[in-house]
Amino acid sequence: LHRTKKVLSIQSHVIHGYVGNKAATFPLQYRGWDVDVLNTVQFSNHPGYAHFTGFKCSTEELVEIVEKGLIGALGIKYDAVLTGYFPNVQALQKMAGIVGQMCDEDENVQWVLDPVLGDNGRLYVDEKCVAVYRDILQSSKIFLATPNQFEMELLVGMPVRTLEDTKRAFELFHERYPRVTRVVVTSLELSEFSNDNVYVVAGFDSSLGDEVFFYKIPKINATFSGSGDLITAMLTDSLLNDHGRTQQPLSTSLGQALWLVTSILQKTYDLNVANQGPHDSAISIKDLKLIQSRDILKQDPVPSMGKPDT
Ligand code: ATP
Ligand code: MG
Ligand code: MG
Ligand code: NA
Repeated sequence: LHRTKKVLSIQSHVIHGYVGNKAATFPLQYRGWDVDVLNTVQFSNHPGYAHFTGFKCSTEELVEIVEKGLIGALGIKYDAVLTGYFPNVQALQKMAGIVGQMCDEDENVQWVLDPVLGDNGRLYVDEKCVAVYRDILQSSKIFLATPNQFEMELLVGMPVRTLEDTKRAFELFHERYPRVTRVVVTSLELSEFSNDNVYVVAGFDSSLGDEVFFYKIPKINATFSGSGDLITAMLTDSLLNDHGRTQQPLSTSLGQALWLVTSILQKTYDLNVANQGPHDSAISIKDLKLIQSRDILKQDPVPSMGKPDT
């Protein structure tokens, strides 16, 4: 009998919709995880809407909940800690210190770090967070990091626009951040494929001494919010919820996570189009249809998106 895995997920919360912890919790629970949910902020909805309101947790509150509550009083042993959006530099610094210490004291705790900085050439956190994430990645043992294209560029300090750039960026990343075992860049727009209508998803696992590998994902004619948070959660599941199996290589886990995410986005798209009717240019879909996708999330074993290229 396999043990139920426990994850502490430290991310944003929205009351309406599915980003941050709302994009990670239900899918992880549905795939059999005990999820302890720590919300760094509580907003009415995500900023992709015209208006939003809400409040942020203070650094002191976040620190106290984890140090005094979860670790101190309850003594919980997690299999994984997943970190995402923090509302300010200080919260990021302090909480990264605590999670880093948890991982140093117990090698069974795996840190999955989503270095949330921005997207499409624009920062959506304080610019000082870039240097802080560089420090964190340099000094901490990290099981998996999941930057997007823009975040990867900021972390390695070079543009990533071609396949060659991507390979060089992963090399640089590994040189600078040797304690980060696995890296997945969740959606790359590369010039070689600009006519193919695909996203490139690239990964590298230094524990296998492997080459960089790629999946090409056909683009659905829409933009989604929360899909990056969802893929980080599903990669965590695929890598760490082994049900007693031996651990799979990152390329296998990424193929499975991509199958789940692609299926959920397609379902979300189909339900939206059924409502809105046909369209020519890409539609912006605000909320993933996660609940309607529960049959997809229940699949075990999960099919894969096929074999990656190198
Ligand atoms: P972040 O959320 O941190 O900005 P990101 O920009 O890489 O990360 P997305 O662009 O949402 O995140 O992509 C995450 C995954 O979702 C991709 O790996 C891809 O599989 C899938 N995806 C997102 N948008 C589409 C789309 N229009 N068509 C097909 N797949 C998509
Ligand atoms: Mg992100
Ligand atoms: Mg994005
Ligand atoms: Na990401």
